This record gives sequence, structure tokens and C-alpha cells, in this order.
Amino acid sequence: MHLSRLRLRDFRNYARLDATFEPGFQLLVGDNAQGKTNVLEAIYLLATLRSFRGVGGAQMVRHGSKGYFVGAHLVAEAEHELKMYWSASERTLSMDDQPVKRIADYYGRLRCVVFCTEDLQLVKGTGRVRRRFLDLLLAQTQAGYLAALQRYVRALQSRNALLKRPDPDPTVLGPFTQELVLAGQVLMDRRRELVPKLSALSRLAYRRISHDAEELRVEYAPSVRADFAVELAASAGRERAFKSTVLGPHRDDLQLHLSDRSAAQFASEGQKRSLAIALKMAQAEYLSGLFGTPPVLLIDDVMGELDARRRAGLMPLLERAEHARGQVFMTCTQENWPRELGRRLRRWEVRAATLIPGDEASPAGGSCP
Ligand SMILES: Nc1ncnc2c1ncn2[C@@H]1O[C@H](COP(=O)(O)OP(=O)(O)O)[C@@H](O)[C@H]1O
Ligand SMILES: [Mg+2]
Repeated sequence: MHLSRLRLRDFRNYARLDATFEPGFQLLVGDNAQGKTNVLEAIYLLATLRSFRGVGGAQMVRHGSKGYFVGAHLVAEAEHELKMYWSASERTLSMDDQPVKRIADYYGRLRCVVFCTEDLQLVKGTGRVRRRFLDLLLAQTQAGYLAALQRYVRALQSRNALLKRPDPDPTVLGPFTQELVLAGQVLMDRRRELVPKLSALSRLAYRRISHDAEELRVEYAPSVRADFAVELAASAGRERAFKSTVLGPHRDDLQLHLSDRSAAQFASEGQKRSLAIALKMAQAEYLSGLFGTPPVLLIDDVMGELDARRRAGLMPLLERAEHARGQVFMTCTQENWPRELGRRLRRWEVRAATLIPGDEASPAGGSCP
């Protein structure tokens, strides 16, 4: 799959951008603070309706403007026109000029995997970051997952609101508990199915990119041991004490082990970085395997930060994307030009929120040998 066109209006530092892209490697080169990452953020936003920088809509509106627009033409199993507008008072999302009524119908059309510095939070951050990683992947790949997640979150919120009251009425709590258990079971089943597959793919990816002999193991760490309904009932006392739902998939986590030791506790910085990349590679491999076509890869500065070995480990993934007429967007500065990619790149110079197409006849890149 690839994006043949991207349009931005009042998005970050872009007043207006109309760019057309071919499949293959798209290299966005430029000095700092010119707008390279912003382009990747816009593409990811269209795919997931979230920023990978973890910010809300208001921060992406160009200073002094009321709202932003992001639009793209997607060439995938079918072709689609995707459009999104956001302002404090109005949000619209459309596909082929029809308003999107259910997010689940939209999700998963444009599949992206981003590699960025924030990925380190997958290892260092709280369980929330890892749950979000699982949820995003499952929402993009499993029919019904997003709907179950939405039902779960609603039931959880209602339940927690009731538990905040001085003397929560069990008969009022009951229906929400039932809904929580039903929707929660779907989430847990799907997560339990996915994680071993992800673990196998991550282990291979880690081996490819790391120098060390440690074995990566990714394990599902569910909050519920066996029976959600039974354990929930048994936690009634703690619920009253904490005034909230103390167990359930909203407390799940992923355990990351390097040779049977917790990576968060014992891994070196370099190992953590490799591990985060391995998880993202696994995500991309999983999506490629499931759909038969690679997702759009968004690589923000990462190539430049990696040593030669890790870059080499990432290359097969990038090359496969290229061979399958997929697309890879990468950002870099002149200094950290990815030499491995040779001249198969479409180069774009990013300067003060404009994309200037590079001259294809000239050798690509300042430091290209
Ligand atoms: N909401 C916004 N409105 C206007 N400019 C913004 C907004 N958010 C970020 N910027 C600007 O975008 C630029 C950073 O863009 P970015 O894509 O992160 O740069 P880089 O090329 O280094 O990746 C900075 O100049 C920053 O001031
Ligand atoms: Mg950047």
C-alpha cells in the first residue's frame, strides 16, 4: 500500500502542503525544525487518529489557526480518499467523501508502523504504553476488537463513577459488571492469541538487530488469572477501598524479558533501544503477513541514531516494503544520510514547511559515497 497524495492545511508548521508520492523510499532531508517529523505525524494521524507524539488535536493546529486538515489518497486493496478535519468545536472524518460513522469501518485501511524516539517508552514506560501498542495492532487487524474496547471503556467508566459514590448499590453496578466481563473477555482472548505470534516475530527481529546473545521473550501478563467474573466478585472489598475497578484488561501488561530477566529492570540502554525497534519490526512483519502487503513505514531520525549492525538488521524489512511497491518515509539530516539505500531514494528537501523535490539526476545526498 502507498499514499499517492498528501494534503495538509494549517497542520503544525504547514500552512499548506500538496505533495504527490510514488511507491518506494521517500527520504525527507533537512535541518532541524523544518517540518520533517510533522509530515510523518500527519500520515500516522490519518492511519490511527492519534499523534505518535502523544499529544491532542489542539497542539497540531498551526499557531494562529482554528483547525487543521489532513487528507490523503490511499492506494491499497482499493483506492480511498481520506480526509480529516479537527478544530476545538468540530471534528470530521471522511472516506471517499462519506462521513465515517463507525471508526471500526475506517481503522485498518491505512496501516502504518512508525519508528521514532518515543518507541523507547515501550520498554521504559508504564503498562499503558504497551496496552496501547497491543490495542492499536488488534484494532487494525481484528474485526470487532475496537467495538469491544469501546464497550469495555464505557462500562469501566460507568462502573468507576458508581464506585466513587458513598454507598454503591450492587443492583445498579450489576449490569455494568456484566458488560465489563463480556467485553473484557474479548480483549483478553485476542491479546492472548496475538502475543505469542508477536513474541516469535520480536525474537527474530531482536536477533537481527542486536549484538548480544540474549533471547527476547514477550509475554502477555493479564490482570485476570482465570475467571474475570469470579475474580471481580472477589475484589469487591478492594474496589470499595480504592473506589475503582481494580482488575481487568485495563490493568494488563506485556512483559519483556531478555534471557529471562525483566528488560525494564536489567537491560542496558542499547538493549532497550534494540528491543523497542524489534517490537516495531514485529508489528510490521505481523501486518505484512496478515494482509500480504507491507504497511507504510514511517522512520523518524532512527536510521541516523543506529549503528551499522542495527541498520543492517532493519534493511530487509525496508527492502521488502520497496519490492512489494509499498512505501517508506524516512527523515534525516545531511549528516545521517542512510547510505545503505544507495540511490533508490526519492529525495525531498524539507525547508521551512515546504517539500522541494530533489533532482533525480543528481547523486542522492551530500554524504553518499
Ligand atoms: N502547532 C504548531 N504551529 C506552528 N508551528 C508548529 C506547531 N507545532 C510545531 N511547530 C513547528 O514545527 C517545527 C518542527 O517541526 P518538525 O517536523 O518536528 O521538525 P523536524 O524537521 O526537525 O522534524 C518547529 O519549527 C515548530 O516550531
Ligand atoms: Mg524531527
